[in-house]
Formats: sequence, C-alpha cells, structure tokens
Amino acid sequence: MTDARIPIDIPGHPTALLVGHGLLDRASGALGRASVEVAGRRVLLACDDAVHATHGARLAAHLADAGAEVAMVGLAASEPDKAMPAVERIWAAALAHGLDRRGLIVAVGGGIVGDLAGFAAATYLRGVDLVQVPTTLLAMVDASIGGKTGVNLTLPGGGLGKNLAGAFWQPKLTIADSRTLATLPLRELRAGLAECVKHAVLDGEEALAALERDAAALAAADPDALLRLIPRSAAVKARIVAVDPLERGIRATLNLGHTFGHAIETLPEFQLLHGEAVAIGLVAAATSAEAFPGFVREPLVDRVRRLLEALQLPTGLPTRSATPRGTLAGEIRRRMGFDKKNEGGGLRLVLPRAVGDVEVVAGVPESAVEAGIRAIFVA
Ligand SMILES: NC(=O)c1ccc[n+]([C@@H]2O[C@H](COP(=O)([O-])OP(=O)(O)OC[C@H]3O[C@@H](n4cnc5c(N)ncnc54)[C@H](O)[C@@H]3O)[C@@H](O)[C@H]2O)c1
Repeated sequence: MTDARIPIDIPGHPTALLVGHGLLDRASGALGRASVEVAGRRVLLACDDAVHATHGARLAAHLADAGAEVAMVGLAASEPDKAMPAVERIWAAALAHGLDRRGLIVAVGGGIVGDLAGFAAATYLRGVDLVQVPTTLLAMVDASIGGKTGVNLTLPGGGLGKNLAGAFWQPKLTIADSRTLATLPLRELRAGLAECVKHAVLDGEEALAALERDAAALAAADPDALLRLIPRSAAVKARIVAVDPLERGIRATLNLGHTFGHAIETLPEFQLLHGEAVAIGLVAAATSAEAFPGFVREPLVDRVRRLLEALQLPTGLPTRSATPRGTLAGEIRRRMGFDKKNEGGGLRLVLPRAVGDVEVVAGVPESAVEAGIRAIFVA
C-alpha cells in the first residue's frame, strides 16, 4: 500500500501529514521530498519514554544513517509532567547538542510529547523547525494536526490548568507510521477511536458508514482497518484547521462531545482517558440536540451509541458510584460553566443536527443541557 499524503493548507504555513506502514524506515526520503534536509544537520529527538527504546531508537538510527547528527531526550508522558520543567529539559538538551537556528526538533510520541516538543521548538532561539512523529492514534488523527502546542499550568490554589500556556507552531511535516501503533495499549488505541467517531459525524454519511463497517476490526487494532481510517479521519481535522487556523469560528466544531467530556474527564472517581470521556460526551451532546425542540434533522443518539459500543468504548458512567448521582450531575453542570467556548456567562454547546451538520449553539435550553447530563448516567 502506498503512503497517503494529506495536505494541511494553513495560510502562510502549508504543511502535510504522511500516513503509512513502516514509514519511519523511509523518513529521510519523505523529509527530503518536503524540503526538510537532514544530512549534516543537528537533530534533537524529543521522545516519549514509552517509545524511546523502540520507535525512537529506530528513527534515530535511520536519521543518523542519512547523515544527521542525532541526539535524544526522553520525556515522561503524563499530564502532571506536561509542564515547563519538561520544556526546559528539551531546551537544555538542544543547547547541549549545539542546535543552532538551522536545528531541527522531532517530537516522537503521543499528544503530550507533541505539545511539549512543539512548544520547545516554537520558543528555542525564538523558533526552530519541528517535525511531528505521532505514535498514538489520537495524536495521528488529532493532536499533531493544526499547530497547537503547549503546557499545563498549576492553578492558583492548586489543580491542573490544562494547556493554559502555549503557541501556534506548525510542523514542517508530520509522519504517522501505523506500525508504531502495534505497541500502543489497546485501551489507548480505542480512546483515540472516539475522536475518529467525532470526525466522522462532522464529515458525513460516507465516513460514518465506513467506520461502522470496520468497527470490530478497529476495536481489535487491525492494521489494515487502521490504515483505512487514519488518513480519512485526519483529513477532517486538516480541512477544518486550514479554514480556521486560529479557532475564530468553525474550528470550535471540533469540540463536539468535549464540553460534556471535559466535565467528566477529571472526575477523580472514574479515571477516564480523554477519549473515553469524549465518547460519553458524544452521546450526551447528541441527546441534548434531540431534546432541543426543533433542532435536529436526524436523530443520532442510538446510532452513535451503537458505534461506540462496537468500538468497545464507554457510552455512560457506571451507575454505581460512591457519590450520589444528583451531586455528580450538579458538579458536571458546574464544570461545564467554565468551558472555553462560553461567552457572556451563557453556555455554548457543539450539537449535531444531522450527520455532517454540526453547529456551535448559544442559548441551548437548560432542559436540553440537563437531558444530556442525564444521558451520562445511562451506562
Ligand atoms: N495540540 C492539539 O491540538 C491537541 C489536540 C488533542 C489533544 N492534545 C493533547 O494530547 C494529549 C493526549 O495525547 P495522547 O492521547 O496521544 O496521549 P499521551 O501522549 O498521554 O500518550 C498516551 C500513553 O501512551 C504512551 N504511548 C504513546 N505512544 C505509544 C506507543 N506507540 N506504544 C506504547 N505506548 C505509547 C504514552 O507514554 C502514554 O502513556 C493531551 O495532553 C491533550 O491535551 C493536543
């Protein structure tokens, strides 16, 4: 199968995503074709500790064979570690390796390492070239596309403020080698599938039907099914960020399922992965849309729920929990009030009218919001 190339036409910074099996072994050629020279160049691989000895070492050896002077820095991929000390470690490694303005930073890992290394590249010597090598499904179809980079900050009084400092910095190229997914834990892979469901709902009937056909194979991490899915799903985000690179309008539709999702992701008693919370959020958003009189053209709740179940993703929170349901529901509603999309004190939700027709909506009736929250508890 030939590699897929998805153009990402950011105004002023056109870039692309390559998707293929075994691409890391062909990386230098792909970089050369994208005018990213490696021969004679100092290259720093900022590498997720979980893939350092495997995919990172393989890429480092390949780039060294192609004539690059390669150094590596290992990074822990946890949200508390996605903070300034990790960026400083990358800067220090870059200095130690003698990276000058012609230097290149390559991010090898999931979204955490991509955001950290991207921010380090945006700021080191006021900006050096960046290449993204995503190794999780979520990073391949979502986090590595669009140029958002950043770190978490500690909130006044404690707690993690996610992605509160950062910069837009476009990679010269993004290389997604589906072979790296063979080592990704199945739970992480399935969490990435939730973002693919979101992209398919944004994209349209054909994309959603394709995902439904391949659902069982995808839930089992079948390599061929993944290679069919990744370019198609990534292209949805690529198209949207190219139209709205700075999130002034349509890019906000990529938050479908995320207002509910963010509110439940950090509830300590459930320990959900981001993608799992998004899966539950997608059902909640579709439910809110249906409970909003006159809004939907095509009911989606049952279809989305069936697909998520086929992908082995959660569609609701476990009904038995130490905290009473009413208390949890109140806490979820409170947290939704802090969503970044809100304006002038009013809640704004991303809701589907139909497959391929999704809108950011202000003034959603409280009864519809509550219906979405109730759906979260029907596991
Ligand atoms: N910049 C953006 O536009 C954007 C968009 C979405 C999410 N994000 C960010 O991305 C992060 C989540 O990214 P993620 O889901 O990729 O998670 P992650 O980076 O936390 O990776 C998930 C886990 O998988 C491990 N891992 C990664 N690749 C592996 C592989 N091939 N084999 C074995 N283990 C592997 C990691 O070490 C980690 O434990 C969040 O911090 C989120 O804020 C950014």
